[in-house]
Amino acid sequence: MKPAEGKLGVMCVGLGAVATTFITGVMMTRKGLAKPVGSMTQYDKIRVGRGKDKKYLKYGEVVPIADLNDLEFAAWDVYPANAYESAIHAEVLKEKDIEPVADELKKIVPMKAAFDKNYAARLDGNNVKDCKTRWEMVEALREDIRRFKAERGVDRVVVLWAASTEVYVPVNEAVHYKLSDLEAAMKADDRANIAPSMCYAYAALTEGAPFIMGAPNTTVDIPAMWELAEKTKMPIAGKDFKTGQTLVKSGFAPIIGTRCLGLSGWFSTNILGNRDGLVLDEPANFRTKEVSKLSTLESILVPENQPDLYTDYYHKVRINYYPPRNDNKEGWDNIDIFGWMGYPMQIKINFLCRDSILAAPLCLDLVLLSDVAARAGRYGIQRFLSFFLKSPMHDYTEGEVPVNHLFQQYVMLKNALREMGGYEADEEID
Ligand SMILES: NC(=O)c1ccc[n+]([C@@H]2O[C@H](COP(=O)([O-])OP(=O)(O)OC[C@H]3O[C@@H](n4cnc5c(N)ncnc54)[C@H](O)[C@@H]3O)[C@@H](O)[C@H]2O)c1
Repeated sequence: MKPAEGKLGVMCVGLGAVATTFITGVMMTRKGLAKPVGSMTQYDKIRVGRGKDKKYLKYGEVVPIADLNDLEFAAWDVYPANAYESAIHAEVLKEKDIEPVADELKKIVPMKAAFDKNYAARLDGNNVKDCKTRWEMVEALREDIRRFKAERGVDRVVVLWAASTEVYVPVNEAVHYKLSDLEAAMKADDRANIAPSMCYAYAALTEGAPFIMGAPNTTVDIPAMWELAEKTKMPIAGKDFKTGQTLVKSGFAPIIGTRCLGLSGWFSTNILGNRDGLVLDEPANFRTKEVSKLSTLESILVPENQPDLYTDYYHKVRINYYPPRNDNKEGWDNIDIFGWMGYPMQIKINFLCRDSILAAPLCLDLVLLSDVAARAGRYGIQRFLSFFLKSPMHDYTEGEVPVNHLFQQYVMLKNALREMGGYEADEEID
């Protein structure tokens, strides 16, 4: 494992609510003015050893993790607002939590985005690259990464997608399975099959940077990108930050499954009014999110394993754009379960959350742990990061089933870190 020496560049695609809340929080933490609550890398501990030898170590004591003071930020966005203006506009954080780092934030001026309006019709910013083909987008983004590294004296870079959800791109075997086909499609400017996000991922991996997909976009969830990650020896992770309702679902469904209770229906709905909600109000963009959100239950409460309990349950997910709530999402879950002799019962969960406040620590952990993985020589899909993701990547061409169960994911996370740190893997949850 290489040490965490020098600066770690964090390049955010999208400088909206999530990215600015993440960046502002890191800057405020560095000044001792805020606490990075919710971040596993900053708070959680891992047990190593057993019996009288057991001890609990922070993640940074198990593997070398970059220091928050060594993070350097950059971003791309469709809108030209700098990180300070964008943080104020997002209305997630109070001004008192932004002002102390205003000067630092103002220096983060977004580079022009690789963007195509057909992928997010509700956005109309003009801070956009003038590229004739998808391949030109890739080349311009590679140049941005190289310039950022040189200008800021950055040793390593991680690219994090915290931009809007693109329209749903179904996997097309003729384009998305082989790297050579993907490259040919980029050069032929196949706009229907090559989303702008794929250009960011391609650029990141070829420039030696891990890539994290925080939205539910197909992007790196295709065999051609796995091939590229293998060729460049770079880690990839995705998709979709597991923050509010899905976090609850992946933590609560195990209660039903572990007690062998039955499920007849799970209805999830929520209202939110930020720009993310506006983009998701477009049916083609919502479709991408829906596919991601629906996948969670199916691998936790599996009909084939327990036909009496989980056959034909009705699972519905709705997102409603409702401007007055802005980033303060409200989610409702109605769960119809049944017990002894089939008698029905109901569970209601009402989660009044804050979307970006839940997403920010995930951004930090995903960035720091992807960097750890790269330094440990790990590449391709990083399954141990599934803990942070709604729709974990898995090799669907081989029939692999993703792990969505929160506590199984937690064991995977800790075991990967134990392994990278030279400790023995373990099955216990503690
Ligand atoms: N907050 C959460 O709980 C949560 C959970 C899971 C996923 N996400 C995803 O995270 C992403 C960011 O959420 P947000 O609330 O910050 O949204 P946001 O709308 O505030 O910010 C996204 C930004 O991305 C920019 N953008 C869009 N396409 C771009 C491109 N091609 N290149 C560069 N910039 C681009 C937009 O202009 C916008 O400023 C969304 O895709 C959202 O679905 C958020």
